[in-house]
Amino acid sequence: MNTKLLLEHLKKNPFVLAPMAGITDHSFRTLMRQLDSSVVVSELISANGIEYENQKTLDMMGFDEIQRPIAIQLFGDDPEVIAKAAQFVESKNVDFIDLNFGCPVPKVTKKGAGSAMLKDLEMFAKVLRAVVKAVNLPVTIKIRTGWDQNTRNSVEVCNIAFNEGITWVAIHGRTRSQNYEGLADWNYIAEVKSHVKIPVLGNGDIHTPEQAVQRLKQSGCDGVLIGRGALKNPFIFSEALQLWQGNSTLESFPLQKNYTWVLTELNSLYSRHSSEQIREIQLKKFAAWFSAGFPGSAKFRKDIFQLEGPEHILEASINYFNLLEKTLQEDTSQEKFLMGGHG
Ligand SMILES: Cc1cc2nc3c(=O)[nH]c(=O)nc-3n(C[C@H](O)[C@H](O)[C@H](O)COP(=O)(O)O)c2cc1C
Repeated sequence: MNTKLLLEHLKKNPFVLAPMAGITDHSFRTLMRQLDSSVVVSELISANGIEYENQKTLDMMGFDEIQRPIAIQLFGDDPEVIAKAAQFVESKNVDFIDLNFGCPVPKVTKKGAGSAMLKDLEMFAKVLRAVVKAVNLPVTIKIRTGWDQNTRNSVEVCNIAFNEGITWVAIHGRTRSQNYEGLADWNYIAEVKSHVKIPVLGNGDIHTPEQAVQRLKQSGCDGVLIGRGALKNPFIFSEALQLWQGNSTLESFPLQKNYTWVLTELNSLYSRHSSEQIREIQLKKFAAWFSAGFPGSAKFRKDIFQLEGPEHILEASINYFNLLEKTLQEDTSQEKFLMGGHG
């Protein structure tokens, strides 16, 4: 896919699933594309892992046609190694390459990778130049607003990205120092967007389809990334898209939610792509997350975590969601939820 087509695609649907390690794997990406995430991005993948042909790393790169447009997200500290990894990824026929400059995890930052590169813009520019030169695919990046509150530098980072031929910048509206505390600063994201030429995708703390549309419009961004919100409501992309297109009202949504289909599809995807053990863990995790804000969710979570065998977990989950019928999901956005990750 070329840059023009990718940006046209984003214009038609600006609601994008945020990459999440341990979550946006092969199966979940397929599910989310079917539920209208505009594009999907893999979990972060180590450029060094590709260099050393680490089997686990290579296994993380599988995808199906249905996931297109699909990106593989790379991280690393050495421009040449990242560029070579990008060439390898291009040979796998993905649609674009995403680079991670948002990861706050010390194991990654102490080597100068992830968000640490926002402190060394010379090295940052070198990485972008090396990757853009090495491949013919569009290259996108994901950043934090800066290393800490005193060194927020997204305008400068976006200008470098624009000059180096990057296709878009996704901004998680927190600094590295904030980790997952506090709130994403959407005023800052909007300000950055208004000062730069490169397309910007805003990210952070979008919990509902209404919020997704509101953030998109108020920030002036070209798209929004939704991570944890999609784990509590897997229908958030199709709902946001419908709202944004003016086709729907909130009242009609509960009727369209089909948890039986979602859970059955997840079970079947995991049975194709993962071991029985992974399939079981992922099914439990997703069913538990989806139940957030519904009546009896605490008991449901406790019950399924005691079950064994994917078929039993699937059956219990379908029974639980069927009983809810048209119950509205309560707002749980004030509760702490998955307060750690690689971006
Ligand atoms: C469990 C978890 C794993 C994550 N892994 C990645 C990752 O691999 N790459 C990345 O760029 N961001 C990663 N992130 C950050 C998300 O993409 C996103 O920026 C962040 O969660 C804020 O958005 P949200 O409030 O919509 O979840 C991760 C976040 C979480 C919670």
